[in-house]
Amino acid sequence: MHDILAKLDDIHGAVSVIGSMNADYTVSTERLPGPGETVNGGPLQVLPGGKSGNQAAAAARIGANVRIFGAVGSDANADFLLGKLTEAGVDTQYVRHVLGPSGTTVIAVDANGENTIIYSPGSNAQVTVEYVESMKDAITAAPTIGLCLESPIDTVTAVARMGREAGATVLLNNSPFTTELPRELIEASDILLVNEHEMAQLLGINEPEDDDWDGMDWHAIADKMHDYGFRQAVITLGGDGSVVIDGDDIHRISPVRVQARDTTGCGDSFMGTILAGLSSGMTLMDSAQLASYVSAYAATNYGAQASYGTAAQIRAAFA
Ligand code: RIB
Repeated sequence: MHDILAKLDDIHGAVSVIGSMNADYTVSTERLPGPGETVNGGPLQVLPGGKSGNQAAAAARIGANVRIFGAVGSDANADFLLGKLTEAGVDTQYVRHVLGPSGTTVIAVDANGENTIIYSPGSNAQVTVEYVESMKDAITAAPTIGLCLESPIDTVTAVARMGREAGATVLLNNSPFTTELPRELIEASDILLVNEHEMAQLLGINEPEDDDWDGMDWHAIADKMHDYGFRQAVITLGGDGSVVIDGDDIHRISPVRVQARDTTGCGDSFMGTILAGLSSGMTLMDSAQLASYVSAYAATNYGAQASYGTAAQIRAAFA
C-alpha cells in the first residue's frame, strides 16, 4: 500500500462547501451522440450530484467534518439530494429550501467512462449573497472553504471574501470553466483548481504537441500563475496525474491507473480530498497525492457521489 494512503487515518478536519446540489439524470451509451444525432442508451438513472455536493460528499466519506451551504427546491429531488449527502456524512442543516425545481443535469456516459453534462441550475441560482452572509459564522467556522462556479458568481465572490477575512483557506474550482473570473474573486481565493486545458486558456499558454505536459516548463507556468493571481494551484492532467504549484515549488503527482467505468464527479472527489487534507493539516502536495487515489477509486464506479469510497474502501482497493 502506498504510504500516502496511511494518511487517510489523519483526516478529521472541518470543511465548508458552498454551492450546488444536482439530481443527475444519467444514461450510459456506447458512444456519445454528435450534433443532431440519436443514439441508443441504457436505463435512466437519477443519481446525486452537483459539483459542490460531490466535493462535500467525497470529503465527508473519507472522514472530514463537512458542512454544505446551498439551496434545494420544493420538488422530490430536494429530499433525495439531502438524504444522500446525509448518508455520506455531510451536515446539511444550513441548506436553504426554495420554491421551484432543485438543480438538475442531463448526463450521458460512454463505454470509455467519458461524459457530457448539461446543467440546469434550478434552486442553485438562489444561493444568494444575502443567504451566505446570513450563514457567515457557520461558513467561516471551518479553516478550509470550497467553492465552484455552479452558483451565482457574486455569491462565490462574497464567500471568498468572507473566508479571506476570517483567515480560512479558500480553494476555488474554476468549473464550469470561465476565463472571466472577477479580479476580486481571484484576490480573495488562495488555491486554484483547474485542468490542463483550462489552465492553458486562462494563462494564454499554447498546449504542448502530443499532450506532452511533462515537457512543459512548469516554472514558467508557475510564474504566469503567480502573475494571474494564484501563488498556489493544482492542475489536473486527466489520466496523467496532476501538478501542484505551491509558491515557487512544483510537484508532479503521479497518476493512479485504473480501468475507468465513469469519470463523472472524479474531479469533484479530487477537490473534496484536497479540502479534507488541508483542513486536517496535510500539505497541498500530500493532499493532491491522496486525491489521486480517491478520484481513481471514484472512476471505477458509476455516478458521482454514488462512486465515492470511504477511507476503508479506498485503502482496500489499493492495498
Ligand atoms: O462534476 C460532475 C458534476 O457536474 C455532476 O454531478 C453534475 O451534477 C455536474 O454538476
